[in-house]
Amino acid sequence: MDTYDIAIIGGGPAGYNAAERAGHAGLKTVVFEKRALGGVCLNEGCIPSKALLNSAKIYDYARHSEVYGVTVKNASLDHKTVVARKNKVVSKLTGGVAMKLKKCGVTVINAEAAIENKTAGGFTVSAAGNTYAAKNLLVCAGSVPVLPPIQGLADSLKSGFALTSREILDLEAVPKTLTIVGGGVIGLEMAAYYASAGAAVTVVEMLNSIGGPIDGEISKILLNNLTKAGIAFALGAKVTAIENGGVTYEKDGKTQTLKCDKTLVSIGRRAAAVSGLEKLGVALERGAILTDEHMRTNIPGVYAAGDVNGKSMLAHTAYREGEAAVNHIVNKRDVMRYEAIPAVIYTHPEAAFVGETEDSAKKKGYEVKCATLPMMYSGRYMAENEGGDGICKLVTEAKTGRVLGVHMIGGYASETIALAAMMIETEIKIGDLRELVFPHPTCGEVIRELLFEI
Ligand code: NAI
Repeated sequence: MDTYDIAIIGGGPAGYNAAERAGHAGLKTVVFEKRALGGVCLNEGCIPSKALLNSAKIYDYARHSEVYGVTVKNASLDHKTVVARKNKVVSKLTGGVAMKLKKCGVTVINAEAAIENKTAGGFTVSAAGNTYAAKNLLVCAGSVPVLPPIQGLADSLKSGFALTSREILDLEAVPKTLTIVGGGVIGLEMAAYYASAGAAVTVVEMLNSIGGPIDGEISKILLNNLTKAGIAFALGAKVTAIENGGVTYEKDGKTQTLKCDKTLVSIGRRAAAVSGLEKLGVALERGAILTDEHMRTNIPGVYAAGDVNGKSMLAHTAYREGEAAVNHIVNKRDVMRYEAIPAVIYTHPEAAFVGETEDSAKKKGYEVKCATLPMMYSGRYMAENEGGDGICKLVTEAKTGRVLGVHMIGGYASETIALAAMMIETEIKIGDLRELVFPHPTCGEVIRELLFEI
């Protein structure tokens, strides 16, 4: 039986990054992946959706650029080509991951792993009829869509009328009518693509706002922009049945049914189950593996990183958690922190945020100083966004002058937000930040402007 220093279950962002780090650190490493290396992120999440959304953006520019002096006649979007290109991007990236792991000596087993036993020296894991021993176990099994027992949903999934975030990326044709259940990140990004691609899209969201935890004002601006792009919204509407080519919801005490060709169910994700985990006595909380700041579980030698611990459910968090786990194994000082994790919604315009909102900071007892500016304060934004209504918000702690949160909607927000995350992570003070030179002209300069508004 082969014995490894670390066995990693799951080859998504948490698993493959941890495997690479472990390989570089000289640990004998095995990673088990039952589907495809790259996990949900590379195969059916972050990357494929960005490929689709980029095609939508190009198409939208082609159709709506007269104001910039550009007219494109007969612009069209060919969904099949979009999907084919998406597949090409995915296969290049997953191939890249496989190559990197090979280069750093990691063994990849393309099979489902099951935890077998705790032994004197560690743990045993079985896969495809073989048994593997490892001193440490890192569980990176990811997450699966939440599919509650909504009336008719199980049958609708079987018939192909209802789709999850996996199938929606590979539809053969653009449906004439698409109802999206859930106005969170997945719902909004897919609404944006399919509306541009020609579907009549309605988003049905239980809450009275879209985008989940994003700042209220930014949520409203996003709603206005998506509505202008032709997406219909039913807010404060709870879906109660998905059957017979229709989605039924309750709103203001009334029941309504929307007839449609397809429906996407995107109402959240939950930690995936791992076969045999219960044998080790690993503690769970609402189905997710409980971890500390080193990604340790309650069982010595067992770690969990990524969506499976239910902490953040973002690929970039997963990368860091995987690293933190490996660093603990090799006795390198490293602690996972969650205060400065940025989040992005890649709609057009894109929204990005990191840290506390004014409300959440106040609830935590901070005395705050906040400022908001339109993105139009950036010359580049003005030049590139005719009629743009983006804003940027800065939340700081009054007493210390450190940044607690940044929230923005508008061009390049996804790229600019890393700078804001760094401000929070390093606890750098406003006074020092004002001495920073920003490249000009950039959309991110609006953050520099905000530093002088506090
Ligand atoms: P989500 O948690 O973002 O949004 C789900 C929405 O569904 C919520 O607004 C909720 O109120 C609503 N909902 C729940 N039950 C409902 C019902 N019966 N009727 C109507 N509405 C209902 O979950 P989502 O969009 O499925 O995304 C899952 C995960 O994937 C998230 O944790 C997200 O962080 C991650 N993700 C991140 C992306 C990014 O960073 N750009 C892109 C896509 C996914």
